[in-house]
Amino acid sequence: MLKAFRQPAWPRWAAAALAVVALGAALASGLARAQGGGPFQDADLALGERLISEHRCAACHQRKVGGNGSAIYRPKGRIGNAGQLRTMVEYCNTDLGLSLFPDEVNAIAAVLNRDHYRF
Ligand code: HEC
Repeated sequence: MLKAFRQPAWPRWAAAALAVVALGAALASGLARAQGGGPFQDADLALGERLISEHRCAACHQRKVGGNGSAIYRPKGRIGNAGQLRTMVEYCNTDLGLSLFPDEVNAIAAVLNRDHYRF
């Protein structure tokens, strides 16, 4: 009879496992956000930032518009969505002969989106 009132061992174990799974899910979604989110889900923002400074995008933009060069990015101008932003970066890539890989173009577009366009 007493046996029926004894707590089985597994629920505690299962609760701990569930907690681990929940924590993992929370971390994964946090990571997804840190990597761009929105239309640039799996973009590598750190890579994008590095490429933007390596290729001196801002230096040339500065010569055109002054300030820190960011006035060249006009969220309400001709670029109206994430796809057009990616296409524009691709165009710069080709035009400037940078030979960027598609994921590098995507990473740059993601950083510009985070800092300027916010699609
Ligand atoms: C040699 C100079 C030069 C360099 C280097 C350069 N750009 Fe540009 N970029 C321009 C000019 C000029 C414009 C504006 C063109 C216009 O208004 O017709 C522009 C416009 C843009 C725009 C469009 C802005 C908007 O909202 O209309 C994006 C995006 C852009 N550049 C990204 C980049 C990125 C990313 C890099 C570096 C990989 C880069 N550019 C390097 C000259 C340059």
